[in-house]
Amino acid sequence: MIYVLNGPNLNLLGKRQPEIYGNETLADVEVRCRELGAALRLELQFRQSNREYELIDWIHEARDVAAGIIINPAAFTHTSVAILDALNAFEGEIIEVHISNIHRRESFRHHSYVSAVAGGVIAGCGTEGYLLALRRMASLLAGVSPGVSQ
Ligand code: DQA
Repeated sequence: MIYVLNGPNLNLLGKRQPEIYGNETLADVEVRCRELGAALRLELQFRQSNREYELIDWIHEARDVAAGIIINPAAFTHTSVAILDALNAFEGEIIEVHISNIHRRESFRHHSYVSAVAGGVIAGCGTEGYLLALRRMASLLAGVSPGVSQ
């Protein structure tokens, strides 16, 4: 089981700043993730919340049932020690995804608390970043591609 978690405002994907985030909705992204997940034999929980506590509760839930978490924490990326702490208590693989290239944007987006715990970070690949993360997750879980320690 893989949890794909999405943070605040991503429910507005496709409507919100399409020049940055594109025209696809989060439901479209979910469909594409489920198609690829099926091909990779990865069962998915795909969720979005605007509430920090809910994301934290889902990360706790994942501890018991998931081998990996793919997370786009959205604005909480840059603010949330609480999400970092929750992820630090998760023992599986963690991949951080951003649709936009946060390093090419405002300086307050350049720092990510979540990157301190993520094995991999994908940014600036549009919504395809979720699919890249799923492929990476499948490789890590199959043991065909080693993780990196740094
Ligand atoms: C984002 C980048 C964040 O800085 C921003 O707050 C988001 C989305 C992305 O996917 O590019 O809401 O995580």
